[in-house]
Amino acid sequence: MDMVFDINSLVRENVRKLVPYMSARRLGGNGDIWLNANEYPFAPDFQLTENTLNRYPECQPKQVIQRYAKYAGLQPEQVLVSRGADESIELLLRIFCEPGRDAILFCPPTYGMYSVSAEIFGVEQRKIPVNANWQPDIAAIENNLDRVKLIYICSPNNPTGNLVDPTALQQLLELSRNRAIVAIDEAYIEFCPQQNTTRWLQDYPHLVILRTLSKAFALAGLRCGFTLASPDIISLMLKVIAPYPLPTPVADIAAQALTETGIRTMRARVEENTKNRLYLQQELNKLALVETVFPSETNYLLVKFIDKEKVFKSLWDKGIILRDQSKQPGLENCLRITVGSRTECEQLINAINALSNRPQQIKEI
Ligand SMILES: Cc1ncc(COP(=O)(O)O)c(C=O)c1O
Repeated sequence: MDMVFDINSLVRENVRKLVPYMSARRLGGNGDIWLNANEYPFAPDFQLTENTLNRYPECQPKQVIQRYAKYAGLQPEQVLVSRGADESIELLLRIFCEPGRDAILFCPPTYGMYSVSAEIFGVEQRKIPVNANWQPDIAAIENNLDRVKLIYICSPNNPTGNLVDPTALQQLLELSRNRAIVAIDEAYIEFCPQQNTTRWLQDYPHLVILRTLSKAFALAGLRCGFTLASPDIISLMLKVIAPYPLPTPVADIAAQALTETGIRTMRARVEENTKNRLYLQQELNKLALVETVFPSETNYLLVKFIDKEKVFKSLWDKGIILRDQSKQPGLENCLRITVGSRTECEQLINAINALSNRPQQIKEI
């Protein structure tokens, strides 16, 4: 008899059920103005300097590690480099969470990869929504720590744009001591550098900080991120990471981005981006279709619209691509808008403005 082979019969149940992370690129769109992935609007210029592609790369390229350690004010032993912060989210799960037994905890609405990575590994997710001020609900977290090995906290938070209150972070670090790892995702910390938590690494051996070159360093296409933690945790991460996680060209460019000049350029970018954010905030607030522009410490704004569907769809059709966040808990009618160049901000404002300024149709009698 002719049997049709169903590949799903071999697939792990959680992978069969998995809804993959819908990255901005996967969602598609035919855009001229990409404001949906919190990228930098211009491509930085780099030349490759290493011509050794016949050789495997160093697992942890020394120059990259040393330069990032210097930038972060830490020792090289406290730094790991990986394929974006996303890989680091996964490495932590691999180290600390036994599938089917342990759990991770996070506070929605937040970055989607904590959930997707846990799903792939078959690790339970404890979701404790933020409170009305978009801060972690410390009491609820404390009451739900049973079997939790790993807590992901995103600060500043994607997509809301707010910082987690340092007092709440410290309470969280205290109550999880000897119980769970706290991973603070600082992907956007360069936009509010004074808020970084690296100084706490010396007091809290269970603190892990996630960083990336994808945002303020303008290198999302490079796929390069960092983990800052105790030397013990970094050693564990090196046990489970791929043997050659960083391609030679990636290490080459990352090392250049982390020179003193590279860091100065990054800071100038942040300054420019922050000016554009203030401009965008101010102009959005004048628009009839805008209900609320939430405060932001990042390179994006979360905006609540009167008619989000109309705004999203009309702009999409014009090639201005935003990120719909309305399915996240508490974010009905909200779109996330990356702060682009000044021209992109102006085009965005004009496009939304045009939607409420349509000449009224005159009915023919
Ligand atoms: C909060 C947060 N963490 C991590 C990442 C992923 O960073 P990377 O590009 O380094 O994988 C992103 C990317 O959008 C993010 O918003």
